[in-house]
Amino acid sequence: MSSEAISRRHALELGLLGAASAGVGLVGLGGNGWPPFGPGSTVRNPAPGQGAALTEPDVLRAVDGVLQVDLRAAPADVSLAGRTAHVLAFNGSVPGPTLLLAPGDRLRVRLVNDLDEPTNLHTHGLEVSPQGAGDNPFVRVDPGEAHAYDILLPADHPTGLFWYHPHHHGMVAGQVFAGLYGAIVVDRDASATAGERLLIISDTSLAADGSVAVVSPMDRMAGREGDLVLVNGQARPVLEGRTGATEHWRVLNACTSRYLRLSLDGHPMSLNGFDGRPLATPHDVTEIVLAPGNRADLTVTLPAGTTQLETLAYDRGSGRGMGMMGGRPPSSRGATTLAIVRATGTTSGAGAVPPAAPGPGRRPAGRDLRSASVARSRVLELATGMGMGMGDGGMRFTIDGRSFDPERIDQQVRAGDVEEWTIRNTSPMSHPFHLHVWPMQLVRTADGPVTVVDRRDVVDVPADGEVTVRIAFDRFSGRTVYHCHILDHEDLGMMGTIAVG
Ligand code: C2O
Ligand code: CU
Ligand code: CU
Repeated sequence: MSSEAISRRHALELGLLGAASAGVGLVGLGGNGWPPFGPGSTVRNPAPGQGAALTEPDVLRAVDGVLQVDLRAAPADVSLAGRTAHVLAFNGSVPGPTLLLAPGDRLRVRLVNDLDEPTNLHTHGLEVSPQGAGDNPFVRVDPGEAHAYDILLPADHPTGLFWYHPHHHGMVAGQVFAGLYGAIVVDRDASATAGERLLIISDTSLAADGSVAVVSPMDRMAGREGDLVLVNGQARPVLEGRTGATEHWRVLNACTSRYLRLSLDGHPMSLNGFDGRPLATPHDVTEIVLAPGNRADLTVTLPAGTTQLETLAYDRGSGRGMGMMGGRPPSSRGATTLAIVRATGTTSGAGAVPPAAPGPGRRPAGRDLRSASVARSRVLELATGMGMGMGDGGMRFTIDGRSFDPERIDQQVRAGDVEEWTIRNTSPMSHPFHLHVWPMQLVRTADGPVTVVDRRDVVDVPADGEVTVRIAFDRFSGRTVYHCHILDHEDLGMMGTIAVG
């Protein structure tokens, strides 16, 4: 049976066929049932609209320790790659406004839902309470309703880049793909962000009429990747700078499913922090992989002339056993230019922006969990299988054999414990594992033991691989979630709940 026949049946089951036929999923399929993309091929953003100077979202700052903001999620028309796109936006802009906070600040967001479907809000990576009016992923805000979030950052909260996006199960991928995401910058001195750039990278696909493309069930199973890869909502913008200037770049992968493998034409960049947690020892890299949800803090010395910030081809699966997916690896697309970096002038130093690398005051505060005593070890298994749940030919996305159930508690943890979790992936594609509230310190990856303190909130678990982390369940108790940050997989059930108390 052809994969298209199967996908048509799924589409019928999901009531999506009319829309899916007009969307990216079923249009222009090659002989193997997949769009003609693969490692090595190049996806080019459309010519119109490119070449504009990079802009950044508006910044909303805390006043006297409180950032009080209304975020209205609603349909909006924005200009994208030279066309008018009908998207979903927070306060009319894609990305939404940047929230700038200092450790110890209070974030009070009134989320107003002017969509025609339920939504909610999650502050990804923040170490804050998941309870009540806090960063509570179980909140549901129906159309026409509002919800007041009240989120208090601890005084020793790490400084770096975090972000916000909707988290209503089943609708997360679609809402993020349509434009609902924004940055949260935590910085000790909220005025000291000069010389820093924020690069929010996202992807989407537009249908012929400018609406956000509806993707096929097959695309959801692979994890959708958009045809347009955007920086701060712009297609291939230009970063203007001075030759030799040292700039601090905070980069977010806000793509629904796409892994980014960033390169500045092979020039070295200093990696100072990851997932909003400064590294004790910054080190030079020529490329950096960001799974969906990951962030990198980079210091870049601008090379003379014109260079390209690219994302290179990345293979996130072998495709083994995925006969129903045409045997093709899940969407590992080719190199794409994200932005043009144009440096002018000389390296005289005059006018160069001083290095913004983390100073001693920005080192991570937390302890090294490799020497902590472990109260309990667990193994969590991420799996995909041919499933009952979605009809024949469909796939189930599970953790420990189960699909998400918000009423169930999957992991009960004692508050204050340090635990060691091995996250095992038995499926033929990579899954970026994300835990809310408590950061994970890498202990062992496919490359062997991790010898530095490296805390993350999204840890990539390669196909047929495993990763071991340690987590200190201190400071906060309550119930929240962990999940695959390929948001389609989360929506399809690859999520569990944890109760700490
Ligand atoms: Cu960025 Cu639970 O999500
Ligand atoms: Cu999160
Ligand atoms: Cu996944």
